[in-house]
Amino acid sequence: MNSRSLIVANWKMHGLRASNAVLLNQLLALVAKQPQVLHNADVVLCAPFPYLADVGQQLKTAESSMAWGAQDVSAHAQGAYTGEVSAAMLADLGCRYVIVGHSERRREHQESSALIAKKAAAAHSAGLRPIVCVGETLEERLAEQTLSIIDTQIDALSTLSDDCLRACVIAYEPVWAIGTGRQATPDQAQSVHSHIQQRLASRAPHSQLLYGGSVKPENAAELFAQPNINGGLIGGASLDAAAFFAIIAAVSSVVTH
Ligand code: PGA
Repeated sequence: MNSRSLIVANWKMHGLRASNAVLLNQLLALVAKQPQVLHNADVVLCAPFPYLADVGQQLKTAESSMAWGAQDVSAHAQGAYTGEVSAAMLADLGCRYVIVGHSERRREHQESSALIAKKAAAAHSAGLRPIVCVGETLEERLAEQTLSIIDTQIDALSTLSDDCLRACVIAYEPVWAIGTGRQATPDQAQSVHSHIQQRLASRAPHSQLLYGGSVKPENAAELFAQPNINGGLIGGASLDAAAFFAIIAAVSSVVTH
């Protein structure tokens, strides 16, 4: 298992240039006061495409160790794909990570697990770490299909090379917990994480597994204390600098206890 945790902000389609700069300044100021919070956690900010260069520049100017990334990427390397953004373009902007297969993209853009695997491969070819999201809907959980849905989503990654699969971060995000304020209990999350770990064990035994879905400062430490939860993918709470900072700090409270 990875010893360092990974905390990823997913800003989704929020913010404009000025408000992003304010949010980032607030976060940088909090980190500057307590830089030790980054000793046990890598932090990535996934901003909307048009602002990646600004966010990267602001982090570079502040000499921050926080990384930045995108929320989606094309499966194609280049060509006549109007409106798409390639992995090479993201790498060119200094991105090190990209989220693929978020449930909002699976649902709103009918992205299949096969397409998501292609996106992960494209990201890895350009030197980016894919953050692959998986998760069941409420109906699927109630029908006791959680693990079979997760297996289907994870098994779609079997087309990836060993190198690519090992580079993937997997984010378990139960769809019913995203943006609803209703997070999975630490036990519910841990049991799915441990299942994913076993499913990947033969080809990617050290995969980094994140939990996402209504992570808040109040529940972060308990989730991160679970043995197979190596960090979080944070939506709503990442738009509030103090809340996001408290979630990053929760990693260290888990480590030192
Ligand atoms: P949430 O979103 O933290 O607002 O629930 C998580 C996500 O969608 O990645």
